[in-house]
Order: sequence, then C-alpha cells, then structure tokens
Amino acid sequence: MSMKNLNSRRDFLKTSALVTGGMMAPSFLVPGAYAAPANELKLAVIGCGGRGTGAVFQAFETGHPIKLVAMADAFQDRLDNSYKAIFDKYGKDKVDVPAEKKFVGFDGYKKAIAEADVVILATPPGFRPSHFEEAVNQGKQIFMEKPVATDAAGIRKVLAAAEVAKAKKLNVVVGLQRHYQNNYREVMKRIHNGDLGEIVGGQVYWNDGGVWVRERKPEQTEMEYQMRNWYYFNWLCGDHIVEQHVHNIDIANWAKNSYPVKAEGTGGRMVRTGKDNGEIFDHHVLTFTYDDGTVIHSECRHFPGAANRVDETFQGTKGKVFLSAGNHGVMTDWKGNPIYTHNRENQPNPYQTEHDELWAALVKGEYKFADAENAAKSTMTAIMGRYATYSGKVLTWDEALNGTIDLFPETLAWDASPKLLPGADGYYPHAIPGKTKVI
Ligand SMILES: NC(=O)c1ccc[n+]([C@@H]2O[C@H](COP(=O)([O-])OP(=O)(O)OC[C@H]3O[C@@H](n4cnc5c(N)ncnc54)[C@H](O)[C@@H]3O)[C@@H](O)[C@H]2O)c1
Repeated sequence: MSMKNLNSRRDFLKTSALVTGGMMAPSFLVPGAYAAPANELKLAVIGCGGRGTGAVFQAFETGHPIKLVAMADAFQDRLDNSYKAIFDKYGKDKVDVPAEKKFVGFDGYKKAIAEADVVILATPPGFRPSHFEEAVNQGKQIFMEKPVATDAAGIRKVLAAAEVAKAKKLNVVVGLQRHYQNNYREVMKRIHNGDLGEIVGGQVYWNDGGVWVRERKPEQTEMEYQMRNWYYFNWLCGDHIVEQHVHNIDIANWAKNSYPVKAEGTGGRMVRTGKDNGEIFDHHVLTFTYDDGTVIHSECRHFPGAANRVDETFQGTKGKVFLSAGNHGVMTDWKGNPIYTHNRENQPNPYQTEHDELWAALVKGEYKFADAENAAKSTMTAIMGRYATYSGKVLTWDEALNGTIDLFPETLAWDASPKLLPGADGYYPHAIPGKTKVI
C-alpha cells in the first residue's frame, strides 16, 4: 500500500469532507441509501464495558425508536452488569435481550451482529478490525470506538473494510468525538479557511496520571488475565499512545489535512514498572513530520503526581490556536488580537452529539458518515509513534503501515497462549529502544 494512495492531501480532503459528518457537502447525502425499517431500529452492542454501555445509553437518549436486541461480551459478568444497568434505566420497552441473544465468549460477536440493523463495537481495540470487518460484511450500520486497531496488520484490515463500507453505503461513526464537538468544528473550519495562514507547527498532549489496573487472580489463565487487564498488553490496547493519545494526534492530522510521513521519538517506563503493568510504556515523546515539512510535537505520559495536560496547540503563519476537550478554541494573531474565541458555556456533550447525528441519519435511511478511513489513518499515526519509540528508529509512514509483526494470538481461547508471556519472575518483557524490532 503506497503512501501516495493513503497519504495525499487530495485523499485527505476527500476523506475529511466525509469525516466532518454534519458539515459535509450536501452532494454526499444520499437519501434512501438503505431502507430504514418502518419500526424500531434493532441495536446490538459488542463489548459491554464502560463505553459499550455508555454508547447504548446515548443511542437511547437520541429519542429515536431503537430496541436493544443482542449483546456480546467475552465475559458473562461484564455482560450481566451492562444488561442490568441498561435494563434498569430503560426497561422492557427499549431492551429485549433474552438469554439466547446474550452471547458470551470470543465468537459471540458474529451472532450478535446478525441480530441487528445497527451495531456498537466497543471491545478493547485489538478486536476492532475483525469485528468491523464482520459488521461490514453483514451490511450493518456502525458506531465503533477508537482506536480502531493496535498494529499495522489491523489497520490494513480496517482500511480495506472501510472501502467496502463506502461501496455498500454503510454509515460508520467512530468515537473520535472531537469531530462532533463544536469548538473543534468551528476552529477547524477557520484553520482550513486559512484564518491562521499555513499551519507550520504544533504540539499535542495527553499527560495525566494513568488508568486502572486489574489484578491477577489465582484461578485465571494467562489469556483471561490479559483480557481482564487489557490496557497493559499491546495486542489488545496498543499502548496508551494509541488508546488515548490518538485523540490529540488525530486533531493534528485534522488541522494539517494530512497524515505524517515520518515519526521519531523516545519513550520508556519510568514510574509504572510493576508486574501488573504488562509491557506498555508510561511515556512517549515524538515528532511527526508532514510532507510539507511541518513538525508536530506529540507527548503522552502516565506519571501520577506530575503536571497534567490534555490539549492541542498549533502555530500558523498568521496566528495560533489553543484547543481542548474542555471546549477551548482560542485563535489569535501573532500580536494577540482575537481571531475567534469559542464560547464554552452550555456546550453539548460530543459523546451524545455523535449519536444524535448518526441516528438522525439512520432513521431517515440516509448515508452520511464515513469515519473509518480517517480513524484508521489517525490510529496508524499513533501506532507509527509507538513503533518509533519502541524501536528507537526513525520510521516512515510506508514502513510502519507495511509492518508485518502481528501481535495477535494464534488462537483465541481461554486456555490458549498469548504471544507475550511473563518471565519466571512474573514481569513481562517490554521494548528496549535500539534493540526491539517492531515492523
Ligand atoms: N471515545 C472515548 O473518549 C472513549 C472513552 C473510553 C473508552 N473508549 C474506547 O472504548 C473501548 C472500550 O473501552 P472501555 O473503557 O469500555 O473498556 P472496558 O474494559 O470497560 O470494556 C470493554 C469490554 O469489552 C469486552 N471484550 C473484550 N474482548 C471482547 C471480545 N473479543 N468480544 C466481546 N467482548 C469483548 C470486555 O470483557 C469488556 O466488558 C476502547 O477501545 C477504548 O479506547 C473510548
């Protein structure tokens, strides 16, 4: 797959016109692109954790006629907790998931997808490529969470399925919710209009204290332990640069209307080094270079007690901007004169907006959203960053995207072995920059 195909400004503009969803060119609206059912739309959720459950709530909160008809999770307890939370809140009018439509295990997703018109894909991201491919093959409308893969092999699968989704006119919304947040939309409109001149540099950050740890229990197989504690294993999570920082990296790509051609950086494990911390790093610091020479600084770290910062800044030839998920959007010229300041009061929740806009299209039978390609390329940018920090090498987009090291286990079963196992001391091996091969 050549960079020319994937990475040109023209292709990005084509994609981003779709990605912006509600702001896209009217010519893309295809009324009657699929036959919206006369009655309720049937919904299935795959991955019934925090986000899967939350996304079902948000679907129901749109007020459209939707019935949850199937659920799938690797674990019975996760599915049961999610079902209870959803049923307790919305009741039998909205929830009709009998025992035989609750699918537990690694293969349940296929059966749950088959029951629905619309699917929510919200497992850990390592499974997203195969789940997305299956949903597209079955011709379903899709909301899927970011990131959309954890390695290059997964990205190639998502890109291929994204093409099929477009050909079949299947709506695909991805939970890179800043694309559905007003401050980002207003600022990006102005950046693309040239209000800051050419964007020549930027800095994107996800620096915070880190996330949960799920402790090993004596009765767990290695596969169950890794599945429960998925954040710390790359075949499932992709490392925090992919799982979280993809949000900010995606904003750099959006501001640049492009994807980087090169990544170089450094990273490691400074403060999170326990047996429960698997293999992931706790910091990555990189530069991403774009084909016009623009350099974006990218930084993510999980250091409890250190300064936190989750935001994006960009510099243009005429001015600069500060953006954050806290509804900031402050554009000034180089003398400090305001160009645009987003009003932060009473802003809608973008997690809700992405569902409001998706389901409004679905009930009308419109084809309006094709987020998968950009999500795959922004996820790939983050994966390229991990490859660069793990290997200590300067990597090009083509090298990274064509990487052949596949992290996924040969067999998915509770008694099967993941590829990464702990040593005799209980600690997992992790990347050593300068030594580790990543592609
Ligand atoms: N857009 C956002 O801001 C945002 C916020 C939080 C999470 N997320 C994303 O949502 C996804 C899920 O995160 P979460 O916080 O809900 O995690 P979670 O651990 O709470 O939920 C994941 C669920 O998926 C289940 N699961 C794992 N493998 C499965 C498989 N093969 N088939 C079916 N079910 C499987 C798990 O058992 C678990 O119940 C991740 O990709 C995460 O990055 C996005």
